[in-house]
Amino acid sequence: MSTRTAAAVPRGHPAAGLDSLPFGPAWRRVAWVCTVGLVLMLVAQAASRYLVWSEASYGPMWINRTWVFAHFIGGSIALAAGLLQFSAALRRRHPAVHRWIGRTYLVGVALGACAAYALSLRAVLGWPFGVATFVMSSVWVGATAMAFVAIRNRRIAAHREWMMRSYVVALAFVFFRLMAVSPLLAGLGSKSERMTALIWLSWTVPLFVTEVLLQWRRGITPRADDEAPAGTTTAAASPTSMAQPLGASVPT
Ligand code: HEM
Repeated sequence: MSTRTAAAVPRGHPAAGLDSLPFGPAWRRVAWVCTVGLVLMLVAQAASRYLVWSEASYGPMWINRTWVFAHFIGGSIALAAGLLQFSAALRRRHPAVHRWIGRTYLVGVALGACAAYALSLRAVLGWPFGVATFVMSSVWVGATAMAFVAIRNRRIAAHREWMMRSYVVALAFVFFRLMAVSPLLAGLGSKSERMTALIWLSWTVPLFVTEVLLQWRRGITPRADDEAPAGTTTAAASPTSMAQPLGASVPT
């Protein structure tokens, strides 16, 4: 059954955030199950390498082994915790568990991103790759910080949107590896050039697609007569009305 009800999205007031997604819950479930499968497969593949503490196992990453290990543990914690956070049933039935998993996600991001910064500054693949991963790390930290600030201010819808952005950046781990084995990109440039391009592609494109999905309904719905043009203050745009979560029911 659709969670997007007429009551939650009044006519003339385009839905925001997750309510704006042009997919029903069944499609979201399919996307979630596919993501779980890919994350488990790729983390297990990386684990079989980086949980074995030897030069043979780490290969060229051995010189950065401590950072790679910390980064892999932090990244895996964030990926696992983030997946659970998208369960609406868990959020509704066990809000305390949701909060604890959220804190675990923050710890995973903090550990994963700090180690990623260190790895960026020591990038085996050269400085262009280091710049690309440094920026990606900063976007990951920035989106996660926005999600944290939003929930501290009880902006539920904004929190969910920023969590989606943060998690999509974490999923660069998946997108990067999928693109790296694609034969379409195999012959492009040197290894360093190819990997640097893949880093940029692995989060910018998914983040843009996420933004389109999040803003979908706002963009395709004609502006209602009672919606305030930019720069004006009416009841709909006043600080008081903004106090309610985005996408919540606004009286017409
Ligand atoms: C989202 C932000 C992320 C950034 C900025 C980032 C950055 C980096 C950097 C700079 C390296 C070193 C690459 C090199 O010098 O060749 C690296 C390697 C690695 N990262 Fe991440 N990473 C991120 C997310 C993740 C996540 C979520 C995981 C999940 C486990 C992960 C797992 C790994 C692994 C296993 C390596 C070792 C090299 C490899 O097997 O490809 N990373 N990452």
